[in-house]
Parts: sequence; C-alpha cells; structure tokens
Amino acid sequence: MEFTAQLKERAKSNKQRIVLPEGTEERTLTAADTILGEGFADIILIGNPDIINADAKRLGLKNIGKATIVNPVSYPKMDEYVNLLVEIRKSKGITEDEARKLVTDPLYLSVLMIKNGDADGEVAGADNATGDVLRPAFQIVKTLPGISVVSGAFVMIMNNKEFGEDGMMVFADCAVHPDPTASELAEIAVASASTARSIAGFKEPRVAMLSFSTKGSAKHKMVDKVLEATAIAKQLAPDLIIDGELQSDAAIIPSIGKKKAGDSKVAGKANVLVFPNLECGNIAYKLVQRMAHAEAIGPVLQGMAAPINDLSRGCSVSDIVNLVAITANQAAGSKQ
Ligand code: ACO
Repeated sequence: MEFTAQLKERAKSNKQRIVLPEGTEERTLTAADTILGEGFADIILIGNPDIINADAKRLGLKNIGKATIVNPVSYPKMDEYVNLLVEIRKSKGITEDEARKLVTDPLYLSVLMIKNGDADGEVAGADNATGDVLRPAFQIVKTLPGISVVSGAFVMIMNNKEFGEDGMMVFADCAVHPDPTASELAEIAVASASTARSIAGFKEPRVAMLSFSTKGSAKHKMVDKVLEATAIAKQLAPDLIIDGELQSDAAIIPSIGKKKAGDSKVAGKANVLVFPNLECGNIAYKLVQRMAHAEAIGPVLQGMAAPINDLSRGCSVSDIVNLVAITANQAAGSKQ
C-alpha cells in the first residue's frame, strides 16, 4: 500500500480531532472536505461559520457539515482560554487584556484548544508564515521533556528506488531552527530517527550527519560542529546507528561511501539525512522535490509537546490532507 494510504488507514483506526485554524482558506476547506469524506480524522475548523458554509456551498463541498466549526470571536470557552493563556505566560508578563486579544487569533486559539484537551493536533500555514504558526505553539505547548529545540523533517519519496528505504528518506531540519548548536543538532538527529521510525515506518534508521567533509577530508569549525553533534547524539541515543561527518554522496552512494568511509555502518546506506543548518536543509529538500520530482511530505515537526504541523504557503490540497494524516498519526502515537 502507498505510504499516504497507510498513514490514513492507521489514522482511521484511532480517530483524532485535528484543528485547522485557517478554516476560511479555500485549499484548507477543500482538504477538510476530503478528510471528512475519507473519514480518517475529525475536523475542527476555525472561522466565521457563515463564511465557511457559504464557501463550502460555492465550492460544491459535501462533507463540511461533519466538521465542528468554532467562531474565533464568540465561543463558549473563551474565558477559560484567557485564564489558561494568562497562567502559561504570566512569567512573560502577559496581561488579561493582551490574552483576551490573542485568544481571538485562530493560531493562538487552536493551540489553546490542544493545551486544554479540546483538540488533539493542528495543521496550519496555508495562509500564514511559519513563524506565525510556530510562535504560539512554542509559547503554549512548548517542547517535549528533555528536548530543547523543535525541528522539521520531511519524508521524501523518490521515484528512484535505489536511495534510502526503497526510495524513501527522512531529511531534517528543513523547516525550523536556522542555526543549531552542536547539542541542538544532536537532538535534531535523535528526533529525526524517531520520526523515521514512527512516521516513515523505518525499522532501522541510519542517520548521516552531513557536511562538506567526509571523515576529516576538510578542517573547519563547521565540520567540527557536525563531529561534536555526532558524538553528543551517540551519548543521547547509544543504540542509534549514526555517523558523521559525511558528504552527501558518501552518505547515499554505496561505492563512494565504501571509498571515503569504508568501516561506516551508515555511509552508502543512509536513510535519514541531517543537515548542518536550516539553509542546507531547506535548499536541499526543495531541490530534490523539484529536480527529482520527489514527493516531500511534511514538514513533520519533531520535539514539540503536541502534534502541531506547519504547511508551506505554496501547499496543495493534497499536501494539507497528507499533513493532517501525519498529524493524526502523531497524535494517536503520543497517547500510547
Ligand atoms: N524550538 C523550541 N522553541 C523555540 C524555537 C525552537 N526551534 N525557536 C524559538 N523558540 C521559542 C523561544 O524559546 C521563545 O519561547 P518563550 O517566548 O517562551 O521564551 C519563543 O519560541 C519565541 O522565541 P523567539 O526567539 O521570539 O522566536 P522567533 O519567533 O523570533 O523565531 C522561528 C522562531 C519563527 C521559528 C524562527 O526560528 C524562524 O523564523 N525560523 C525559520 C522558519 C522558516 O522560515 N522556515 C523556512 C520555511 S518552512 C518551509 O519551507 C517548509
């Protein structure tokens, strides 16, 4: 079965409530209709109900009646969410008036719903920049215990089956943290292996810590950072199969891996690529997506204490549907 079909099947077996704060955005509304039709998640749309219903009618959508619609300017739990936000952000000096304004912002409201147990996950970003989607999540749900940094992974599905797991690989960080320190990069590596297991279904993640150098071929402080990150990741997860620093060809091409890093368990057979910073990761995934016509599923946010995922504003309806399927899987997984 195709990867996305598997995700949907798994999501269907343990349905989660996914909130879409951009409920009046056309691609989001169309995706919600598809998801409700396929029945793999319950959908909460935030937006003016009159606008949502009129748009659904105009677009010929048949399933929006099954969604829960929350009007951000009038809903029964408004006072409860104001108190919750004040409580969470009091150390940052938030006032009740500021909180009252923020809880009408769909991007804050959706995260507060998750924090309060009224939703299980969120997908947004078709209409809002990454920073605006992530900031409320960072402020309200924060990171998982023991994790200091959120990052974003993509499951890359390539037509060329010779790479990774039958053409499937995990790339990270491609979406969130611009310039990680060595210890943050180590956390990103460990989190990416976990995403590779839980979302991509890899039985044995093999993590390559990428650089412009392989095993000391170049000397530079940027190379040192990757080496240090690799050593820290080994301490954090002693059983993890990880190696670095490796150039990308040494990581994925068996003959080059053998030549440049002969005794490595990762070189030539990596299925998880960890980039040294966001510039590399973001540029790389978009090039592979466009030039190799790969499917790029994500970004799957890793390290956040609740499943909240951000779309690219250039996303398609099927990108939204797929990311909801991933988010629903993360939500179900976090309850096990
Ligand atoms: N992980 C966890 N928490 C974080 C992270 C992170 N990576 N980054 C910031 N935070 C927290 C801070 O600790 C702070 O918490 P506090 O208010 O409780 O103290 C809060 O978030 C806000 O911190 P700021 O420093 O104000 O963060 P800012 O909002 O300036 O930046 C952001 C965060 C928006 C994620 C920034 O790092 C960014 O712009 N990253 C790039 C995103 C991007 O453009 N990606 C490429 C496009 S996505 C794509 O192509 C798929």
